[in-house]
Amino acid sequence: MKVYDIAVIPGDGTGPDVVAEGIKVLNAASEKFGFELNYTQFDFGGERYLKTGKILDDSEVEELRKFKAIFLGAIGHPDVKPGVLEKGILLKLRFALDQYINLRPVKLYEGIETPIKNKGPKDIDFVVVRENTEGLYAGAGGFLKQGTPDEVAIQESINTRKGVERCIRYSFEYAKLKGRKKVTLVGKTNVLTFAFDLWKRTFDEVAKEYPNITADYAHVDATTMWFVKNPEWFDVLVTDNMFGDIITDLGAMIQGGMGVAAGGNINPEGSSMFEPIGGSAPKYTGMGVINPIAAIMATQMLLDYIGEKEAASLVEKAVMDTILKMESMNAGKMGYSTNEIGNLVKTYIEKA
Ligand code: IPM
Ligand code: MN
Repeated sequence: MKVYDIAVIPGDGTGPDVVAEGIKVLNAASEKFGFELNYTQFDFGGERYLKTGKILDDSEVEELRKFKAIFLGAIGHPDVKPGVLEKGILLKLRFALDQYINLRPVKLYEGIETPIKNKGPKDIDFVVVRENTEGLYAGAGGFLKQGTPDEVAIQESINTRKGVERCIRYSFEYAKLKGRKKVTLVGKTNVLTFAFDLWKRTFDEVAKEYPNITADYAHVDATTMWFVKNPEWFDVLVTDNMFGDIITDLGAMIQGGMGVAAGGNINPEGSSMFEPIGGSAPKYTGMGVINPIAAIMATQMLLDYIGEKEAASLVEKAVMDTILKMESMNAGKMGYSTNEIGNLVKTYIEKA
């Protein structure tokens, strides 16, 4: 029997609530397809930080590196200063484990309402490949004369040929693997004439190796317009860290909101981390009202990543069936509790 070691970080707020439903679904899938998942729980997050002062030390990162996949609930606590946990846990893991891809599917499922008028599931089905270790997130820069009237703050965008190329190559490989037809580079070549010159040159070179995939380019500002006006134009998008962060929040909204949006922080050769991208929503903690679909879709991506393709595809079917039964994707208005939604997905898998 195949055995996979999975690290689980339930995290803060509603993180543990949705992780419980994700695990339920993972267990149903492993039972069905005859593989074993070995979970190891980690208590990283705001709660532990407030109690012990520990965020995430290097030995803990090394511990996580041993796992093929990590399932993360949410990090973020109302009593912790913004940035501490985000930088100290989430970004630290992305960087230290070299999870250089942030993969964010934007797919509107049948039965989910989108705020975009006259658009439906056939129009909204694309994937954003966000570079996840460089750009403005690299932390390059600093202050001069801090706290004085002459203060200068510099934040530099780091773009390496290697980092850009592996990200672009991943997006073409992904398109090829998933039978997608087009890859669009999202940038700002008209203003950011150094960074996106490198991106565009690299993109054009790599695209030549994939003659069956259309290579396209769009400026990031126009992209946000087209997400709303013509989402059907997009198939696979590839972009830098900051632009990817921004456009995927818009993407999440057009696919039905944070209750459904999942993402993967991927190191194709190492340890990857899957998460619902919605955050910890502390006010809903333990109430049974939070939507677990995003977390369940994160487990779907996790299964696909570890190579359990059949299981991943059944989880997606089960989620699609469950969504049709739900009243909405919004917390407290789903027609079911968090736990009941997990049970619907689980039962579908068991009966399939
Ligand atoms: C995301 C989040 C993070 C980011 C924050 C919490 C650091 O917004 O995963 O998109 O900016 O990458
Ligand atoms: Mn974000």
